Amino acid sequence: MRTLAVLMLALTASTAHAGEDAITLKDGPGRALVEANCVMCHSLDYVPMNSPILDRQGWERTVNKMIRVMGAPIPSGDVPAIVDYLATQYGK
Ligand code: HEC
Repeated sequence: MRTLAVLMLALTASTAHAGEDAITLKDGPGRALVEANCVMCHSLDYVPMNSPILDRQGWERTVNKMIRVMGAPIPSGDVPAIVDYLATQYGK
């Protein structure tokens, strides 16, 4: 029984990361926030895809657009950490 439970846990964990959201973002402060707040509507691919064109200001505009225009439910207190992560790890 115990073995089965462990096996099922492992299966559940790998399913959660399967599919088109399977990309791994670079490690760094704020990464968990981006992973938690940016996959509701589209793949995290959007982050590295836009890395060559967005600088800090661009990322700030993009995150604010996600909130104001797209309706992303991101707590305003998390925005600076998210922008910081994006600009540091994926800034132009
Ligand atoms: C409420 C849904 C939603 C959430 C949450 C969301 N986005 Fe988006 N995002 C969209 C939509 C809709 C588009 C434009 C349509 C498309 O291309 O899929 C988009 C497009 C983008 C683009 C493409 C460039 C652009 O400006 O259109 C980037 C980059 C992006 N999102 C980044 C993010 C990041 C980073 C987060 C987390 C901070 C995030 N998104 C959270 C809905 C969302």
